[in-house]
Parts: sequence; C-alpha cells; structure tokens
Amino acid sequence: MKVLMINGSPRKDGNCARLLSEAEKTFQAENVEVIRYDLGTKDIRGCMACGGCATKGACVIEDDVNVLASHLAECDGMIVASPVYYASPNGTLISLLDRLFMSAKADLRMKVGASFAVARRAGTVATFDVLNKYYTINQMPVASGRYWNNGFGRGKGEIEGDEEGLQNARFVARNMVFLMRSIALGKEKYGLPAPEAVTRTGFIR
Ligand SMILES: Cc1cc2nc3c(=O)[nH]c(=O)nc-3n(C[C@H](O)[C@H](O)[C@H](O)COP(=O)(O)O)c2cc1C
Repeated sequence: MKVLMINGSPRKDGNCARLLSEAEKTFQAENVEVIRYDLGTKDIRGCMACGGCATKGACVIEDDVNVLASHLAECDGMIVASPVYYASPNGTLISLLDRLFMSAKADLRMKVGASFAVARRAGTVATFDVLNKYYTINQMPVASGRYWNNGFGRGKGEIEGDEEGLQNARFVARNMVFLMRSIALGKEKYGLPAPEAVTRTGFIR
C-alpha cells in the first residue's frame, strides 16, 4: 500500500506539516509507504485551459505536477493538507490540484482520498469542502475522521496544543488504511465497478 501525501503550505515545517506527520507515523506503523511532497514556495502556476493534456496525456507545463501525477498513478490513496487562506485552500495548492486532476490520465477510481485544513480560527470547513471535491468528482472515496479534519494554530508549531486535531489525524490515517485494504480485497474479488461511456449534459447547447 502506498499513499501520496501533499503539504500545500508554503511553510514546510508549519502546522499542516505537523498534522501530516501525525498521519505519517500511523501509516508507518501500519506498513504503508508514504510519498511525501512539500509544496513550499515553489512556483506552480495555474491551469491555462489549453486542453493540451487531453492529447499529451500529461500537463504541457513540465513541473512537479507531472511528477505527482505519476506518483498518484501508483498510489492507493492521497492525502492533502492545506492552510486556510481567506476561508479557502492556499492559492498555489489550488493551482497544483487543478492541474493535477485535470491532466492525470491514470485510473483514479477507488483510490482513497483524505484532506486536512489548518487555520488560526475559521474557514476550515469551507476549505475541507473544496479539497474533498477533487476526490468526489473522480470516483475516489473519501476517508473521514471524527470531525471535519481540521487543526488549529497560527504560528509554526502552535497546532501542538490542538490535541484533538492531532488525534483526529491518526483516526483519519487508520480509517484510510482500512479503506485501502478493503478496496484492494474488493478489487480482487469483484473487480472495479463496470465503466460506462460518459454522457455530458449540455445546459446551453
Ligand atoms: C494569506 C493568509 C490568509 C489567512 N487566512 C486565514 C483565514 O481565513 N482564517 C484563519 O483562521 N486563518 C487564516 N490564516 C492563518 C493560517 O491559516 C494559519 O497560520 C495556519 O496555521 C497556517 O498553516 P501552516 O503553518 O501549515 O502554513 C491566514 C494566513 C495567511 C498567510
């Protein structure tokens, strides 16, 4: 079992990083391999809507997004943490996720997703909602925890005082491992759900 873990914060050693480390310890205890990626201050631009990925099978911009797409293809699940910026995920992370999910051509069905939002005070639920939508538009089941996967703190390390948030990260990781293992067994026994040609309803044309 393998999980792709993305820390969307520009602070590589901030509160999102700490929350993810708590999940990572749980994955290690369960013998689940983790591919960790810290976005940091990398210059990841947004989607240009060029449509190039449809023909190329990868994003036309050669940066970390294509590397992450190949990691995602080989992983059983993906977990992402974002700081809350104005009640949303931070902009660079959104740029990365838009391009990753638009261009990734691997079969994402039944790869398990999970997400965390970290804030000083408010906006975690709205952020959590945005992150989970990358999964739920891609037939990826979402592993949940005992709350809406948030953590609280402003300065680096302040999340250490949020014991409930850290504990929830462990719950999420354990639930994710259970789901990934169950899905692996289900795939063996029943196979993936039968595909069907996609119908797109045009609301204008
Ligand atoms: C541009 C910016 C916008 C922010 N907006 C919010 C916000 O809407 N709500 C909130 O509670 N905290 C907000 N914060 C605080 C961060 O979410 C908080 O410091 C968080 O712990 C950062 O996580 P990190 O240490 O992983 O970077 C904002 C911080 C920045 C830099």
